[in-house]
Amino acid sequence: MAGNSFGQIFRVTTFGESHGDGVGVVIDGCPSKIPLASENFVYHMQRRRPGRGAMDTPRHEMDRVEILSGVFEGLTTGVPITLFIRNHDVKSRPYEILREVFRPGHADYTYFKKYGHFDFRGGGRYSARETAARVAAGVVAGKILEPLGVKVRAYTIELGGIRAESMDLDFVEKNPLYCPDPIATERMKGVLAKAKEDADSLGGIVEVRVTGCPAGLGEPVFDKLDADLAKAVMSVGAVKGVEIGAGFEAARLKGSENNDPITPDGFQRNRAGGILGGISNGDEIILRAAVKPVPSIGWEQDTVDREGRPAKLKLTGRFDISAVPRIVPVLEAMVRIVLADHYLRSGTMK
Ligand SMILES: Cc1cc2nc3c(=O)[nH]c(=O)nc-3n(C[C@H](O)[C@H](O)[C@H](O)COP(=O)(O)O)c2cc1C
Repeated sequence: MAGNSFGQIFRVTTFGESHGDGVGVVIDGCPSKIPLASENFVYHMQRRRPGRGAMDTPRHEMDRVEILSGVFEGLTTGVPITLFIRNHDVKSRPYEILREVFRPGHADYTYFKKYGHFDFRGGGRYSARETAARVAAGVVAGKILEPLGVKVRAYTIELGGIRAESMDLDFVEKNPLYCPDPIATERMKGVLAKAKEDADSLGGIVEVRVTGCPAGLGEPVFDKLDADLAKAVMSVGAVKGVEIGAGFEAARLKGSENNDPITPDGFQRNRAGGILGGISNGDEIILRAAVKPVPSIGWEQDTVDREGRPAKLKLTGRFDISAVPRIVPVLEAMVRIVLADHYLRSGTMK
């Protein structure tokens, strides 16, 4: 299986499976002398961890990050950093049915077509468990960006058709849905409870904002900052669309409406989402990701078995009602990884 690495200078390679010994990441290209300790990962790992809320998969994992290489006396040494997150709460039995039939909407079918043999327990390599390694790598990326004053914040802007109307970023960390609007949060909880009752699942939209990013990050032509951000975000399971700034709405605007007039003090508005010509312009970077409803639902569904014969599948197991809240910290991590890579590529790190 190729394609497990991402980034040019700050290059992350994730490994491991849902029901193996654990998941992890090797980070190449991290500069030396950056303070790094296991405790630095706790906050971010807890935010992604399954089993936090009633709407998450009840799988319980401590998600403690072990630093296996690349750090000496509390500082990075410049050699590859290896981070490992051990799996503890591994129950394979509920997945036994997937030995034979494929989950509609999931990756079982395509993995079988491509590899002919795969670890079907909990999705193996394509399980959301892999994103724990990304969050760990994002912590290291964040350390590189910290002295620059770059801040990456993601939150749930829409869930199950309920849109956040107010923007209280302090409230984001105070609710399990990471939504910035207290009223919308209650309504989202309501639709989630209903979906749970109906054995169904819900999608939504995550917004990411980056403040403090200097102008000049991004490499024309193929490694544009927005192109790399889109790839990073789309590489997360269940993400089905990405927009930067005005995004798809720009298609309906006139040039006079969509341009961001420039003044000596900066841009008058930010429809560009902080990126022009693939290069950061110093304004806030804004992107949104569309997240589909998770495929695992409790309904009886039509499917086929490995021989292509028609079959029925009714799942029982441990699933999220919506992946949206758990994707919030994952997208923050992916954006940090892209920005750290482009910062190192810019050669401006002091
Ligand atoms: C953080 C996170 C949690 C997820 N939780 C679930 C889940 O509980 N059940 C499920 O069927 N899919 C879940 N997914 C989505 C699947 O991993 C994803 O839909 C699947 O791999 C197929 O990939 P695709 O949707 O990108 O085509 C989750 C994804 C992420 C990133």
